[in-house]
Amino acid sequence: MRFSLFLLALSSSLSFSLATASKGNPVLPGNCVLAATGGDDAPRFLNAFQACNEIIIPKSTTLNISTRLNMTGVHNKHINLQGTIRFNPDIPYWSGNGFSFPFQTQITFWILGGKNIRLDGGGTLDGAGQDWWDAFASNSSLLRPIILTIFQASDVLVKDIAMINSPEWFNLVNEGKNVTYDNIHIDAVSTSDHKASNTDGWDVYRSDQVVIKNSVINNGDDCVSFKCNGSHSLGQFPGMFDIVENVTSRNIQMSNAGNGARIKAWAGPNVGSGIVKNVTFENFIESNVDNPVVIDQVNMTNATACAQFPSNTFIQDIVFRNIAGTSSGSQVANLACSPDGRCSNIDVENFELSAPTGPATYSCQNVELTGNAADLFPVCAVTGSS
Ligand SMILES: *[C@@H]1O[C@H](CO)[C@@H](O)[C@H](O)[C@H]1NC(C)=O
Ligand SMILES: *[C@@H]1O[C@H](CO)[C@@H](O)[C@H](O)[C@H]1NC(C)=O
Ligand SMILES: *[C@@H]1O[C@H](CO)[C@@H](O)[C@H](O)[C@H]1NC(C)=O
Ligand SMILES: *[C@@H]1O[C@H](CO)[C@@H](O)[C@H](O)[C@H]1NC(C)=O
Ligand SMILES: *[C@@H]1O[C@H](CO)[C@@H](O)[C@H](O)[C@H]1NC(C)=O
Ligand SMILES: *[C@@H]1O[C@H](CO)[C@@H](O)[C@H](O)[C@H]1NC(C)=O
Ligand SMILES: *[C@@H]1O[C@H](CO)[C@@H](O)[C@H](O)[C@H]1NC(C)=O
Ligand SMILES: *[C@@H]1O[C@H](CO)[C@@H](O)[C@H](O)[C@H]1NC(C)=O
Ligand SMILES: *[C@@H]1O[C@H](CO)[C@@H](O)[C@H](O)[C@H]1NC(C)=O
Repeated sequence: MRFSLFLLALSSSLSFSLATASKGNPVLPGNCVLAATGGDDAPRFLNAFQACNEIIIPKSTTLNISTRLNMTGVHNKHINLQGTIRFNPDIPYWSGNGFSFPFQTQITFWILGGKNIRLDGGGTLDGAGQDWWDAFASNSSLLRPIILTIFQASDVLVKDIAMINSPEWFNLVNEGKNVTYDNIHIDAVSTSDHKASNTDGWDVYRSDQVVIKNSVINNGDDCVSFKCNGSHSLGQFPGMFDIVENVTSRNIQMSNAGNGARIKAWAGPNVGSGIVKNVTFENFIESNVDNPVVIDQVNMTNATACAQFPSNTFIQDIVFRNIAGTSSGSQVANLACSPDGRCSNIDVENFELSAPTGPATYSCQNVELTGNAADLFPVCAVTGSS
């Protein structure tokens, strides 16, 4: 029989402990319980993460994270988040110190990576986004951190977690394999005039076997003017080959969001290349979403440039199945591919989408659709190729 030993903090300098195994067994790291210090809790959280297999953040605890969290290259870790992890909105600090992703102009508070990692417990990740949205309103070049980035990781489960008020996107999977999100509740609500803009739920980059299921996204404000700049786009950078493969998003509810089920890749001169393959969007319920169903492979502004430089990010084996709900405007689905057969095997099944008033419109170009919802689309426009 093995006993776990819990020592709770008696002073601010000690708030977790290693559990010791009983005599005769090798000493195994055990459970560690974290308490807040009143200052920056990041160093303590990092220490606990290194020392322990399971880190418990109790329900009554809010960790104040004021410096970045590098939790990469680890094995067999369980963060049992019952309380809250809140990212202190010290904008000058994060602007200089957020982990940056040079290939897509993004920063993040937290990178979590390695093998066999679990984050669960019913608690909350709080991005304290209000300060960021307000600052962004007067500084559009401000980089706003992603809350959680699963970074170079395999066999990751993120389950039963609420994520609120991210400065920008909530989640990025960057070079991940077998990463599952289950029962995630995402909420971004601005209490000022400044929208919670670009608060996408997930982004996935160079990853395989990513599953997102049973999750709810509510971008509290109506983001009618959803901005594209800063959004992740596949095939954006010259010389980079982007891969997104084997991704399933299932049982998702979204309301008042910019984009629903979306794949976006760049076209035009001087951009990159890549492949998006075997991506399934299934059982979506959307409400007041600007763009409920999207493939954007055209970088739309200029058809001439697109004809000359079609996207080199090929999109294939995509399924949109059981997609229901309402858009914010008349268009409910837009599947726009580059000329020259850059999209293939795009299947649309069981759409029940409507516009708030009047008929719902569907549009498409340079793509052949299959499935029982294909009839909802007009004959897809074919644009010139060079
Ligand atoms: C979090 O920690 C930082 C750095 O010590 C401090 O400035 C800030 O006031 C703390 N925030 C809260 C809510 O305790
Ligand atoms: C994170 O920490 C690991 C191990 O210390 C280090 O090798 C890596 O470079 C760090 N990553 C970043 C992005 O700073
Ligand atoms: C997009 O945002 C970046 C910084 O995030 C800024 O440098 C750039 O000028 C913006 N581009 C446009 C077209 O607004
Ligand atoms: C806007 O944000 C950028 C990036 O953080 C920063 O370098 C710049 O100084 C800010 N501009 C203003 C006017 O605050
Ligand atoms: C995927 O990761 C989970 C842990 O989240 C693990 O239980 C499962 O065995 C992994 N699947 C594969 C095929 O490795
Ligand atoms: C996607 O899954 C298939 C089938 O399991 C596998 O053969 C393929 O290697 C996976 N793709 C990537 C990029 O790992
Ligand atoms: C497609 O991706 C899913 C995971 O989302 C995986 O289970 C399946 O094996 C993949 N199929 C192929 C043909 O690669
Ligand atoms: C199209 O691509 C160019 C770079 O090739 C970029 O500057 C521009 O912002 C993109 N436009 C859209 C609408 O994405
Ligand atoms: C399209 O964009 C290219 C450069 O990207 C520009 O040279 C051309 O004039 C544009 N054409 C139109 C019709 O706007």
